[in-house]
Amino acid sequence: MLRAMKGVILAGGTGSRLHPLTRITNKHLLPIYDRPMVNCCIEAVVGAGITEIMVVTGGTHAGEFLRLLGNGHEYGIDRLSYGYQERPGGIAEALGLAERFVGDDPVLVMLADNIVERSIRRMVDAFRSDPHGARILLTPVEEDAHLRHLGVPVFDDGGRITAIVEKPDDPPSHFGVTGIYCYDAGVFGVIPTLEPSGRGELEITDVNNHYIAEGLMSYDVLDGFWGDAGESIDAYYVVNDFVRVHGVNHADVDHADGDDAVDDRGGVDRVG
Ligand code: DAU
Repeated sequence: MLRAMKGVILAGGTGSRLHPLTRITNKHLLPIYDRPMVNCCIEAVVGAGITEIMVVTGGTHAGEFLRLLGNGHEYGIDRLSYGYQERPGGIAEALGLAERFVGDDPVLVMLADNIVERSIRRMVDAFRSDPHGARILLTPVEEDAHLRHLGVPVFDDGGRITAIVEKPDDPPSHFGVTGIYCYDAGVFGVIPTLEPSGRGELEITDVNNHYIAEGLMSYDVLDGFWGDAGESIDAYYVVNDFVRVHGVNHADVDHADGDDAVDDRGGVDRVG
């Protein structure tokens, strides 16, 4: 039996890495091939079976989200709420604004600039069947230069995560932490204990390190393409080029259906 679960999509921040494009709009409203970036994220969350969603945004273009998404029904959302972040105080701060919306339910959090080729449903269902602690999604990353822009996990010999280092000079592994996280409702007790980081933000990595220290962190490794379209203008175009050719959010197809034409590699593989 799967627990009810809420979705929180974080679409605030300044988008400064995509200036000047983001001086005239919110980053998450920029196109990814044939739709606004935030729509790709909504599709991923709804595709994972979550239809009660809060979109948290900020800045001067927040009203455009209402114009785009309305009540959300067109996109398969049953209940759509909006949150407004007064200043870009960090991912964890933005998540904190969803506390009353989430209530006692577990929550899937997705950064609205994250784009995935394949469904994230297996990871979400795994958490929903036992919604305690935190569960994050990793992606293999070869280049150190790329890892320096991400959260990077440290593993022990048993393959368990012992820490996550945010934007490390010397990356401790070849996995990046994607912006896709499942938490129990206890996360709203963790956020008020955080101190702002060097960049003046409440960091989601500090939330994750809290769960790791408590021994309550599990993870999956994403299969297929993952991109952070807000990382740089080059990353934005890499993601656009990928989506134009391959699409996004492909559902898992069970071979039992007899559809041999579909490559069933699955959305996520459990490795830890
Ligand atoms: O994309 C994955 C990476 O995202 C992770 O590997 C990192 O551990 C994590 O810290 C995060 O790093 P970024 O530097 O890419 O985060 P960024 O500041 O670009 O924010 C990502 C999204 O979070 C952004 O598109 C909207 C949302 N956000 C961010 C901030 C700072 C908010 O809603 N409010 C905020 O105040």
